[in-house]
Amino acid sequence: MNGNRKRVAILISGRGSNMMALVEAARAADYPAEIAAIVSNRADAPGVAWAEGQRLPVAVVDHKAYPSREAFDEAVDALLAKAGVDLVALAGFMRIQSASFVRKWLGRQLNIHPSLLPAFKGLHPQKQALDAGVKISGCTVHFVTEELDGGPIVAQSAVPVAEGDSPESLAERILAAEHRLYPLALALVA
Ligand code: GRF
Repeated sequence: MNGNRKRVAILISGRGSNMMALVEAARAADYPAEIAAIVSNRADAPGVAWAEGQRLPVAVVDHKAYPSREAFDEAVDALLAKAGVDLVALAGFMRIQSASFVRKWLGRQLNIHPSLLPAFKGLHPQKQALDAGVKISGCTVHFVTEELDGGPIVAQSAVPVAEGDSPESLAERILAAEHRLYPLALALVA
């Protein structure tokens, strides 16, 4: 193994398909990052079961067990410190982070969002794209800043919107692009 590989934590809340894409990419000997920790705020996230099955270092930090956003973020941060993490990759992590956590990881924390930012920030971006009638959408990997889905863009991938698309069919097409884009973007940053 290459000793210069950046140590990455992946934060999830659900299905974890982007996490899986990053894990698979990091299995290549020449990939510049290794997965040092996977953290979920939900014990029942399907991604947790998958990561456990792969014998990956996965931890659950249940946000409901903490009195505040800050306290939850501090627990996550302590875990990242213990794992010697260099970079954080949010992958379907459905928690807004405290300003102090975001500032601490500024320039070292990525997120993936299923739209071509700055269009369609926030929830249900695929439905937003359909409602707007755009013919091309896609996905964006960006640095995390205090502005939701608003940080500097690292990489994007465009996906056509098809006639008759539903939010679900568009999401599925974008997700396939996400799985290619995130490993590339993380490698760039690493
Ligand atoms: C992805 O569409 C990602 O862009 C968004 O949430 C979804 C997570 O999916 N932030 P998964 O958990 O990675 O399968």
